[in-house]
Amino acid sequence: MRYQQVTRIVKAIAPKTIVEIGTWQGDHAILMATAALQYHRHVHYWGFDLFEDASDSTDNDEYNVRSHHAHANIVAKLEAFQSKNPGFTFDLIRGNTRETLPKNKKLEWQNPVTGATSRLEEADFAYIDGGHSIETIQNDYNVLKNCNTIVFDDYYVEDENGACPNISEVGCNQLVDSIEHILLPAQDSLPTGGKIQMAGAGVKFLELFQTEKRANSTTPSETTFSVVTTFSDAGYFKYGRRFIETFEALWPENIDLYVYYESLIPELQSARIKYINFAKAVPALIGFKSRHVSNVEANGIMQDGEENYRFNAVKFCHKVFALTHCALSIDTDVLFWIDADSHTFQAPSLEFLKSLMPDDIYTCYLGRRNMHSECGFMGFDLRHPANSEFMEFWLNIYDNDLVFELPEWHDSYVYDVTRQLFEDKEKITSLDLRAGIEDDHHPFLNSVLGDYFDHLIGPRRKDAGTSFAADIRSSNKESRWDIVPILPEDLIEKFSKEK
Ligand SMILES: C[S@@+](CC[C@H](N)C(=O)[O-])C[C@H]1O[C@@H](n2cnc3c(N)ncnc32)[C@H](O)[C@@H]1O
Repeated sequence: MRYQQVTRIVKAIAPKTIVEIGTWQGDHAILMATAALQYHRHVHYWGFDLFEDASDSTDNDEYNVRSHHAHANIVAKLEAFQSKNPGFTFDLIRGNTRETLPKNKKLEWQNPVTGATSRLEEADFAYIDGGHSIETIQNDYNVLKNCNTIVFDDYYVEDENGACPNISEVGCNQLVDSIEHILLPAQDSLPTGGKIQMAGAGVKFLELFQTEKRANSTTPSETTFSVVTTFSDAGYFKYGRRFIETFEALWPENIDLYVYYESLIPELQSARIKYINFAKAVPALIGFKSRHVSNVEANGIMQDGEENYRFNAVKFCHKVFALTHCALSIDTDVLFWIDADSHTFQAPSLEFLKSLMPDDIYTCYLGRRNMHSECGFMGFDLRHPANSEFMEFWLNIYDNDLVFELPEWHDSYVYDVTRQLFEDKEKITSLDLRAGIEDDHHPFLNSVLGDYFDHLIGPRRKDAGTSFAADIRSSNKESRWDIVPILPEDLIEKFSKEK
């Protein structure tokens, strides 16, 4: 049965937004939404159908042989599904898509968690299965052509007797044959002769199913990398500016940097550095902070008045909100998080970056043997099927204040909990960049990262502008500090003055 392929594709694509042309009795809407809700807490569905506007004339024009259903009945069916799945929302639009689809193409849905807005004409998954006339299918595709995944029903082929519907009048053959596509394997026989199958198109669909990219190993130059970080206004002057300038000077030029800033827009302007106003882009951050900013405990102040970073949920929530927002909204293969109190002193090659995130690894991190990980550096494969679920799970711990139920309330602890849970469920595989190194001291510097970057953990290193030679504990790193940092002259001079 060709229809079963639709749910399988939804599972592979994990869409947050789905548009279906030809909702009919709503059963596939529910199946698709159920599959997508396995990956996201919130899924939106836009459905279009003639419903009771159908007539003999439209059946004739659209080569329709199916029964018709009342709009109100299908709304009731989807509302019943929604009552059991509150993360599901929908709009059901009645009328001929030749008119209703162009009119509604700018319809928007806002993800209640991330605040990100999605438009119907750019839905994650479009299923074109409404009118069968060539004109209507072309009309529907014209509106939905920018969707990342588009699945068409009604591609006709000859049966064993050479019978086939007249593809110059009906079906998607003409359109599909004119664009890059893949025919899905399942075929069903038509009672009137001929066979029917489905076709898939769209950038994401082709990437996943055509090249089978995930199954084969990708070379460094085939992988797109991006970096994300954040800092406060004060942090910008203390270390953020240096992070940005050394990134711009030394990172491969096709790698973008996403910077979530507080209120001061950094001076350095570059096409590949994207500055994002944190509070505006991520209202959930403001929500979390306003709920807890006046609670001393949530700010890491213990009963004896001493500060303990392990309970400073407010300070360490920024990383989680910036990283999850970025990971759920940008288009890149690999996203690295790097703390802004780090800097680059040696240009990382694409080969080196790829070695941190080999194929089949979802996340890389700096583990410690006897305490939580050092989350100054992490990598994530945003094409991994579990990515959205992982990020939304992590974010949810803050959004719903579940962080306060954990033994420690900082980002590294919460990352470890999330990663271990997904590993245990065999949803992801991780790479500990510190594996095999016994000493827990300064994982960043003593790992492979230490040949390229320095992380100024703690106030002493921040004041000095450098980690110390005594931080080097790995025997294979002894000569590392003999390396003359390959920084442009002006930056070397600038940073020596700043120390
Ligand atoms: C094959 S059924 C859809 C089946 C459904 N997608 C499923 O998977 O269960 C086609 C639907 O498209 C609707 N339809 C046909 N022509 C249409 C048009 N021009 N505008 C809107 N809906 C149309 C019909 O009313 C019918 O419900």
